[in-house]
Amino acid sequence: MEITPAKKLRGEVTIPGDKSISHRSVMFGAIAKGTTEIANFLQGADCLATIGCFQSMGIDIENTPDRILVHGRGLHGLTKPSGILNTGNSGTTTRLISGILAGQSFSTVLSGDESLNSRPMARIMEPLNSMGARITSINGNNCAPLQIDPGALHGFSYESNVASAQVKSAILLAGLYADGETSVTEPVLSRNHTELMLNSFGARVSSRTEADGRALASVLPCEELYGQKITVPGDISSAAYFIAAGLLVPGSEILIKNVGINPTRAGLLTVCENMGADITYLSKTSAGGEPVADILVKHSPLEAVTVEGSIIPTLIDELPMIAVMAAFAKGTTIIRDAAELKVKETNRINTVTENLKAMGADVTPTDDGMVIRGRGTLKGARINSHLDHRIAMAFAIAGLAATGTTVIEGSRCVDVSYPAFFETLDSLK
Ligand code: S3P
Repeated sequence: MEITPAKKLRGEVTIPGDKSISHRSVMFGAIAKGTTEIANFLQGADCLATIGCFQSMGIDIENTPDRILVHGRGLHGLTKPSGILNTGNSGTTTRLISGILAGQSFSTVLSGDESLNSRPMARIMEPLNSMGARITSINGNNCAPLQIDPGALHGFSYESNVASAQVKSAILLAGLYADGETSVTEPVLSRNHTELMLNSFGARVSSRTEADGRALASVLPCEELYGQKITVPGDISSAAYFIAAGLLVPGSEILIKNVGINPTRAGLLTVCENMGADITYLSKTSAGGEPVADILVKHSPLEAVTVEGSIIPTLIDELPMIAVMAAFAKGTTIIRDAAELKVKETNRINTVTENLKAMGADVTPTDDGMVIRGRGTLKGARINSHLDHRIAMAFAIAGLAATGTTVIEGSRCVDVSYPAFFETLDSLK
């Protein structure tokens, strides 16, 4: 995909459904009794992988243009798939479904693409195995493919050393099938969609933040979940590209509609404000128990910031975009406490650094982030997305605000989370 500098971006975009919430709505619907009706479901490759996995375990899922209907069969209604469950590029599918599969009465094998099969899975294998499942890495490298042999699950307290909603959710989902209360403590609170949505399906989940900042979530064993009607809010991780585009391209003014602003996801907005962004929130409402707003963004000169500590999990997927904004800002931006960037769809410390350097930025990678000395400009370059959707989209925006032409290699990987990304971008030109 070739990107040329934009003169100004003006207009309105409506953001497609949140990826994290879309996954969960299908998963919880599949193990609930009755029908779950989902509006604004994200039709991205990752969420379609989740649908495929549950269809191959006997769940009837109707994917119509305006609604997804998941005809759930209850906590114990899944059936053994005839082959390997293909989780594609999706870490969320792989890790969350492992928690559910740990509580079934049949064995399964999970596998994904090359990127997925190189991501760390010990973080879910260890706690789920401690609860009584037997999950093994078939190649012995603590990555997928994973063989999941269920077991009688016991209530369990787990102290996680990473703030990961995928780890937390896998354990809470297994906890539905356990014989006592299951709890997870994480160093700081990660996105809490599982806690919110499981409660709305009738589970008993409680959560609190300790005085030292650690976050605890616990779940009681459950008899049944019950199908719900869900409207998925727009994905702030997708909105991030349009927020950045509006801020970076001179003369721009973009109204970004239907953005989920759950505080455990909205760290990007705080960072933008700290950088001096002109952002206005309009018509705040809620969808599916989650806060939603329309966001008006106007071009703004940006200042450097330090991004660190407890805000990191609330913007972890937005850090590639923040790094690009930092290259255009005045001063030195420091991103730290973000070692999790190394285990995303790519090692994003490396892939962001490589591509920012190609565009002429002054950036130094560190062990848990990067240091970016803003130069106010970038120059067009050939970008290697490494088939990471967030790298492709962040650098497409960089290309709009840069001088010269930018080419994004492997740009179709945007299908993972935002199939209409380039068309929507074009509509603003
Ligand atoms: C997700 C959690 C985050 C995030 C991912 C989606 C989720 O991963 O990066 O894109 O839906 O729970 P971690 O929980 O591993 O940080």
